[in-house]
Amino acid sequence: MSLQAKIEKSVPLLIIFSIIVISFGGLVQIVPLFFMKSMTQPIEGLKPYTAMELTGRDLYIRDGCNTCHSQMIRPFRAETERYGHYSLASEFIYDRPFLWGSKRTGPDLHRVGGRYSDEWHRIHLINPRDVVPESVMPGFPWLAENTVEGSNIAEKMKTLRTLGVPYSDEDIAGAADKLKGKSEMDAMIAYLQNLGSTIPAVR
Ligand code: HEC
Repeated sequence: MSLQAKIEKSVPLLIIFSIIVISFGGLVQIVPLFFMKSMTQPIEGLKPYTAMELTGRDLYIRDGCNTCHSQMIRPFRAETERYGHYSLASEFIYDRPFLWGSKRTGPDLHRVGGRYSDEWHRIHLINPRDVVPESVMPGFPWLAENTVEGSNIAEKMKTLRTLGVPYSDEDIAGAADKLKGKSEMDAMIAYLQNLGSTIPAVR
């Protein structure tokens, strides 16, 4: 019996050799990524989220925007023509947690920054149907009513710094002041307008 026939006829051997082959394939794909700068270093010009943007990002998570919106443009023509340049790993270095998502009830938002005015977002977030009549997106009117003052923003930024986000002492010391008198709506819009702006959207 040839070696191949022996392996194919023995379940334990087949399992062991399959695992070896699959692990090798996996390692070949995964290990080089750890050594590629484009995967591990921030893209040129990438800035950590400001106090307002970071606050908006947390509200985006709180209100479940990521359950309907992805932030990951795939490198296919149908995607890049609609949304702009495909997403790069080096744009997400300061994202904790990632909000790539996999559900697109609404459009991808990775390059929505700069696409609409702040006022458009304000109207849209309170009641989407005021600007997009056929929209099925729910309204988030409380964003305009709640303030973001007095949040634990400095502590959040300190924590992110221990994880490698390059905030300076001044950034952290001035963070609370940046939120004075601002609403959740202001913070959410600051976040949305910054999305994907490191590479301007191709329109
Ligand atoms: C139930 C699903 C759902 C949820 C939750 C949701 N959206 Fe949407 N969103 C949509 C749909 C559908 C559209 C497309 C119609 C429209 O523009 O209103 C959309 C459109 C948008 C757009 C316009 C995108 C473009 O390129 O035109 C923005 C910005 C947006 N949503 C932000 C948000 C934010 C911020 C939140 C959380 C506060 C959120 N969405 C929550 C479904 C959702």
